[in-house]
Amino acid sequence: MEILHEPKDMQQWVRAQRRTGATIGLVPTMGYFHDGHLSLMRLAQQHADIVVVSLFVNPTQFGPSEDLDRYPRDLERDMLMLRREQVTAVFVPTPELMYPPGFQTEVRVQHLTTHLCGRTRPNHFAGVATVVTKLFNIVQPDVAVFGEKDYQQITVIRRLVADLNLPVRIVGGPIVREDDGLAMSSRNANLEPLHRASALSLSSGLSLARELYRKGERDAASIAATVQRHILSFPFTAIDYVSLIDSRSLEPVQQADAHTRLALAVHIDGKVRLIDNGLLSPSPQDGNI
Ligand code: PAF
Repeated sequence: MEILHEPKDMQQWVRAQRRTGATIGLVPTMGYFHDGHLSLMRLAQQHADIVVVSLFVNPTQFGPSEDLDRYPRDLERDMLMLRREQVTAVFVPTPELMYPPGFQTEVRVQHLTTHLCGRTRPNHFAGVATVVTKLFNIVQPDVAVFGEKDYQQITVIRRLVADLNLPVRIVGGPIVREDDGLAMSSRNANLEPLHRASALSLSSGLSLARELYRKGERDAASIAATVQRHILSFPFTAIDYVSLIDSRSLEPVQQADAHTRLALAVHIDGKVRLIDNGLLSPSPQDGNI
């Protein structure tokens, strides 16, 4: 496995690969891999000849009071997992290499980023859009794979790619869950054992919303209120948002239909912020979302 740190070395390596006619798949990550990441790498393998994983905890997408310092990291373990997945190359830059002195450019997707996670994390998606644009320019992938757990993120990236005519195809990977329903996330490692049951309020809230929809409830405010009560019935939970949105526009809906998605963000004991989402009426090809 090729390990590259410098953006220009990565660009050079990828250019040589391209000359052989190989197509490139990129999986952008912040490391601390779990089965969700591995599923994205396997998906990338289905869509491209060569898979490059980027591993970079991007400081610009964290707010000043957020968990940049506490974000879990284990480079040695991650490298072992990448080798096992037969990833061809890993790009592991430092913040200094990505944002050298004098750096002053930002990519900002406007409207899609003002609500849901963007309401309490106002600069988060500009950080994501900027680093993803840089990663696309450094790795020049034909295909890039992102997890659908960060549903707003993948929607923002699809918008960015369309708006800036970036020559990359975006593929979404379904949410991977623990046996008890908890959506896999690197941040789950920061949950105290005592708080783990409270983290299940998100996935069980989603199941509850689906059950209400299946029984014929279509009033979005009523479904959201029931899910809120459900989440708050667990100790240590504080709600950031419980929103019923249209899957394509991310706009809130009043009447639920086949495109309606429940999107959730919940703080557990004020320390770990978890997100989850899913269609109210998922079809089998939506996978486990
Ligand atoms: O989803 C993530 O892990 C990050 O937001 C990403 C896309 C790697 C950008 O830093």
